[in-house]
Amino acid sequence: MPKHIISSLDLDRREVEHIFEVADEYEKRGRVSKELSGKVVALAFFEPSTRTKNSFESAVERLGASTIGFSSSEGTSTEKGETVADTIRMLEGYSDMIVIRHKFDGTAKFASEVSHVPIINAGDGKHEHPTQSIIDLYTVSKIKGHVDGLNFCVLGDLKYGRAVNSLLRLMTKFRPGKVFLVSPQQLKLREEVKSTLNYPVIETSSLQDVLGDTDVLYVTRIQKERFADEVEFEKVKESYKVDLKAVEMMKSDSIILHPLPRVNEIDRKVDKTPQAKYFYQASLGVQVRMAIIRYLLGGSE
Ligand code: CP
Repeated sequence: MPKHIISSLDLDRREVEHIFEVADEYEKRGRVSKELSGKVVALAFFEPSTRTKNSFESAVERLGASTIGFSSSEGTSTEKGETVADTIRMLEGYSDMIVIRHKFDGTAKFASEVSHVPIINAGDGKHEHPTQSIIDLYTVSKIKGHVDGLNFCVLGDLKYGRAVNSLLRLMTKFRPGKVFLVSPQQLKLREEVKSTLNYPVIETSSLQDVLGDTDVLYVTRIQKERFADEVEFEKVKESYKVDLKAVEMMKSDSIILHPLPRVNEIDRKVDKTPQAKYFYQASLGVQVRMAIIRYLLGGSE
């Protein structure tokens, strides 16, 4: 059976730290390696993406492999009524691994049940985005030197944010200090996720109360595309913002991460502060995804 990554829970701590080490190794080598020459990775993106698709593409090429695929169902036979299952059956015949993003929860899991090649979940609805969470903790580990013992504040749309769900699940493999969950009342973490966490969380709606005790502030946008009702989105869309005043309340060595894209939840003036690490975090996506692909496909070096 091929190894798939559908959820953060599919990896144990040793595997995650191995990926961190290999990513460091790729960075040292200038992110170039030809060890997967001749392999083909299919990128099946049924939903929009800038970072995930392009960093996977870059990672594949830097490993000497090549990509096929699509960035929207438009122009594919999905428009003629072809099912996801049949699409996966086609792509597994053309490639050695499939990276899939889809608007529906559970699509990546479903693909893994059909596929004979490894499946990587690049985001399924509000469910999970596991490779993003590996990048998130890799960034923390690179900047702070460790993950254990740090106080995290996760801010934003905790109900629909798949990156948050994967991050909080991946943190169960580590030993975080305090974990503050800050969100509008309507966008609190779902019980089905909260009940799987093996560390205590402190839920609050007041960011100011916890900023001074935070090492890693993880900000997310409100996931407008997941709301069934536009009116409900309008009620919460301006409900939080990280601005320079908020940064002043933070410790000087604390950091701000964001899976991106950002809409308006971080003031652009914050980008110039030493705490702002979200663009650096996005740049690390290439070496982390190189390490993940190499882990699932194996390499010759
Ligand atoms: N972080 C992330 O998933 O970004 P994209 O939607 O641009 O891939």
